[in-house]
Amino acid sequence: MNPTDRADELRRLLNEHSYRYYVLNEPLITDAEYDVLYRELVTLESDHAALITPDSPTQRAGSDLNENFEKIAHPAPILSLGNGFSSEDLIAWEERNRRLLPSDTPLDYVLEPKLDGLTIVITYERGILTKAATRGNGVIGDDVTANIRTIRTIPLRIPVKSGLEAPDRLVVRGEVLFLKHDFEALNERQKAAGLPLYVNARNTASGSLKQKDSRITASRPLTAYIYDVVDIVGFTLSTQAEMLDYLQSMGFYIPPESQHYPTLSHIIQQLPTWEQRRQQLDYEIDGVVIKVNDLRISAELGIVGKDPRSAIAYKFPAQEASTRIIGVTHNVGRTGKLTPTAQLEPVFVGGVTVVNATLHNYDFINHLDIRLGDIVTVKRSGDVIPYVIGPMIGARTGAETPILPPERCPHCDTPIVKPEGAVDYFCPNSQCPERVFRSIEFFASRGAMDIEGLGPQTVKTLLDQGLIRDEGDIFYLYQHAERLLGLEKFAQKKVDNLLQSIEKAKTRPLAQLLASLGIEGVGSTVSEQLADHFETIDALMNASVETIDALEGIGEILAQNVVQWLSDPYHQAVIAKLRAAGVQMQGATRSIASDKLNGLTFVLTGTLPTLSRDQASDLIKSHGGKISGSVSKKTDYVLVGDSPGSKAEKAAQLGVKIISEAELYQLLA
Ligand code: IVH
Repeated sequence: MNPTDRADELRRLLNEHSYRYYVLNEPLITDAEYDVLYRELVTLESDHAALITPDSPTQRAGSDLNENFEKIAHPAPILSLGNGFSSEDLIAWEERNRRLLPSDTPLDYVLEPKLDGLTIVITYERGILTKAATRGNGVIGDDVTANIRTIRTIPLRIPVKSGLEAPDRLVVRGEVLFLKHDFEALNERQKAAGLPLYVNARNTASGSLKQKDSRITASRPLTAYIYDVVDIVGFTLSTQAEMLDYLQSMGFYIPPESQHYPTLSHIIQQLPTWEQRRQQLDYEIDGVVIKVNDLRISAELGIVGKDPRSAIAYKFPAQEASTRIIGVTHNVGRTGKLTPTAQLEPVFVGGVTVVNATLHNYDFINHLDIRLGDIVTVKRSGDVIPYVIGPMIGARTGAETPILPPERCPHCDTPIVKPEGAVDYFCPNSQCPERVFRSIEFFASRGAMDIEGLGPQTVKTLLDQGLIRDEGDIFYLYQHAERLLGLEKFAQKKVDNLLQSIEKAKTRPLAQLLASLGIEGVGSTVSEQLADHFETIDALMNASVETIDALEGIGEILAQNVVQWLSDPYHQAVIAKLRAAGVQMQGATRSIASDKLNGLTFVLTGTLPTLSRDQASDLIKSHGGKISGSVSKKTDYVLVGDSPGSKAEKAAQLGVKIISEAELYQLLA
């Protein structure tokens, strides 16, 4: 096909796919597949400039404008980035740039992670944050100033440290996102409150930033990294590396792991390492950005379309692909929760062949109307289990069938239940063989009781051999050392090590033990709270739903889960066995950050600007302070936020010191 016809065809295809994606919400291809077509058109158009038409998708800039917000005009266009997918693409990019520059121009670079969040543009006038906007259409953005102010990593005044001077005016650009651990914590909170989980960190970050009520934004643990100066008055910057240092000195978080390299080939050598490191990072990236270091040269190179020539995004190989759901299994977890898993026609995603992908839960299936036989988009991000993003409704044939939870447990045939108000379905039989296996496996795992040498395979073998039947039996394995030695692949050394690590596990703190029991919704945060409050497992076992529910951040459903779990005779027997074996069952375990607040009692009232109540109490306790529910003469400080209750009045009457969140930070500084 000649280039003119191919360009025509690509434009038609891309326009149709983007219409299906944005308007119909019925995509037929994945983002990665779209990218491939888009790139082909970009290449054709850059080789034959005459082929560029005004309606070409390459001439369109996306927009995130929303009618709920006032608009802010950006001081300069908020540009996008061209993409590269291989080292050849990067070499070609440098070659193109070299042709535009005098022949002996030296080119050095800065490599930054390409953060997968959403762009924001923040203005500071004489050091004070005055406005903040989304990228919008690149020319004007939505005014999200109130929401941006709630993000703790964004300074409200610069420079944060004294001794430096703020420029007269500074407009910066960066990315708002959830750190992976914050996103997990947010979901743990959702779970504890019996609310549906968030699936996609980027979309949740975007939704959190576009709230009309900034208190909602404040309750979401967002982070911002700043990587660019859009406009500056009163200071001159000459390189990208210097810009990052300058931004950091003003008090901004800059993209971690950004680095200066003398040549492009140094960077190309680093790319495989980046792909491996991606999993370990606490933030999601979809590639790296390579920027010409010298800002004068960058300006000279100029812009092509909506991208600066001086920077390029190197995108990691696709992590998404489309394939068909050919079956569904309903996995039973340790808590009895059913997780629907899709069996797929094998598909190659991000370097491996994927045959299974999680469908999360039945609400998710319902919500997205995913059916057996559907073509779906599957994503693999990092080393997490691949998951289904959604169906391609436009590809339906009519032969697809609904996916429903089973009526009976596939492992023990007990009727499946859905507790009132819960999102999930459960096998309620605590002795279900699959639940028992999953519970023991979890109990022994790293992050739980952390018993080295007791991985899933070993647990399975021990169960099959009748050497254990529950968690308690683990601590009696020493009585069966002979039989252990008789098992396949169990040499003396291995048995010794296993028994030793079992012995060590007896002294784990109470919070760790509670988190290891596999009670639905009781993760590390909740278990610490329970251990802190009740101090012994007996006190917790005697507690009512109301007492537990009264704890900050713990909802009724979670409280019911805890009480129900602990009153199940089977679980009580397991606990008795653990106790008899000498497993420690008491002691609070807060990790101590400092003793700055030792001996001081705090009362909290009102909504704080950035900290949730839980976070504020945790912060105070981790520095040795105590939290009390009511103000008395013994109270040292009342921490007051917006719309405080009568506690603030009482504090004033009694002459107790009233402090704000900022003053709390000063106490800790
Ligand atoms: S530089 C002229 N640096 O990626 C400056 N962008 O695909 C152009 N992004 O719209 C942007 N991390 O939202 C730059 N370290 C980084 C980035 C980054 C993420 C985003 C940015 C941009 C998109 C382009």
